[in-house]
Amino acid sequence: MINRILTPREILVGGGSRARLPDVLKSLGVGRPLVVADPVMARLGMADEILRILAEAGMVGAVFADVVEDPTDVSVLAVAARIAEGGHDVVVALGGGSAIDTAKAAAIVATTGETPRALKVPRIVDAAVMPVVALPTTAGTGAEVTRAAVVTDTAAEEKMLILGTAALPAAAIVDYELTMTCPFRVTADTGIDALTHALEALINRNRSPHADALALSALRLIGGHLVRAAEQGDDRDAREAMMLGATHAGLAVSNTSTALIHGMSRPIGAFFHVPHGLSNAMVLPLVTRFSLEAAPERYAAAARALGFADPSADDATAAALLPEAFAALNRRLKVPTLAEFGIPRERYLALIPEMVRQGLASGTPGNNPRIPTAAEFAELYRQAYDGEGPAA
Ligand SMILES: [Fe+2]
Repeated sequence: MINRILTPREILVGGGSRARLPDVLKSLGVGRPLVVADPVMARLGMADEILRILAEAGMVGAVFADVVEDPTDVSVLAVAARIAEGGHDVVVALGGGSAIDTAKAAAIVATTGETPRALKVPRIVDAAVMPVVALPTTAGTGAEVTRAAVVTDTAAEEKMLILGTAALPAAAIVDYELTMTCPFRVTADTGIDALTHALEALINRNRSPHADALALSALRLIGGHLVRAAEQGDDRDAREAMMLGATHAGLAVSNTSTALIHGMSRPIGAFFHVPHGLSNAMVLPLVTRFSLEAAPERYAAAARALGFADPSADDATAAALLPEAFAALNRRLKVPTLAEFGIPRERYLALIPEMVRQGLASGTPGNNPRIPTAAEFAELYRQAYDGEGPAA
C-alpha cells in the first residue's frame, strides 16, 4: 500500500520561533506579506509584534484584523481583494483555526480567481497557489499543517470543506508562547478539537503507520496536559506539550481525513454557531460509543495513549472505558450540553434531516469504522440533544 504524506515544506517548533518569520519568508522567495490576524491577537499587540519582526528584517507588512469566527465566503473574498490591492505575495496567518482557514482560502481565491463555493469537496484543489505561513495561537486546530480549510457558505448556512495541497501552508511556525494568554474556554475547546483529530486519524479507514505514530504521540501529549493547560494557563510545560500535541494531531489527520465526529459536528456549528471544538466535544462520547464495536483495538490504543486505561488492560476493557472517560473530561472542562448552550430543541429537531444531508455530503462519516445509515445518523443527532434513551 502506498501512503501519500503531505506536510508543509518547513515547520519550526519551539518557544520564540516566531522571530524567525523573516528567514522563512526569504527561504520561500517572498517579501510582501499580508498578516491575516485574529482580532483578539491584534488587540493583544501580537500583530504589531509580527510587523516589528518583519520591519527589523526590512520587510513591510500590512495587517487584516477583521477575521470572523467560523470564516465565511464573504470574509474570504474581502481578504482576497486586500491581497490583490496590496500586491502581496504571501499571506501570514496569525490566530486560531479561523484566521488560518481564512488565510488559506483567501490565498487560493486570490491566486485562482475562483469563488470559495466552486472549490468545495468533492473537488480536490491541488493547484499551486501563493504561499501561506501559519502561526497558530491556539493548541489547536492543527490548521497550520493540514490541507483543509472550512469556509461557511453564508447564503446556504453550510460549512464547506476545501481540500487539497492548495490549502496546505508552505510553512508553519509553531511557537507555544503565542498560546500563553489563551483563555480557559478556548484552550479547552481547541484542545478537545486536537484530541478529536488524533482519535479520528487513529480509527480512520484511511489510517496509515505514519498517521498512527503521530496520532498516538498526540494522544499521549494531550491526555497528559490538556486539563493542566486549561486550568493553569501559565504552565509553560503544559502549553508547550499541548502545542506539539496539536501539531502532531494535525499532521496525522491531514493525511487520513476526519471521520464521524467532525461529520456530525460541522452542521451543528454551521446552524447554531457552536465553536468547532465545542461541538466536537458535545458529540465525542456519543459517537465513540456508537463506533467502538467496529474497531475495539483502535479505541483501546487511544484509551491507553490518553492515560484513560491501564497499559495492561485488554482491548475490550480499555475501549469500553472511553465513552465515560470522554464524558468525564467534558464535565471537567465545563463543556455545556446542546440545551445548556442555548440551542432551541424544536428548531434543532426540525433541522436534523438537513444536518444529516450536510453531514453525509461532507464525506467524512464514510471514513468512520462504523458508517451510520441516514436513519442512524438522524438518531445520533437526536441522542446528542435528548440523551441516549429511547426515541421520544
Ligand atoms: Fe477539527
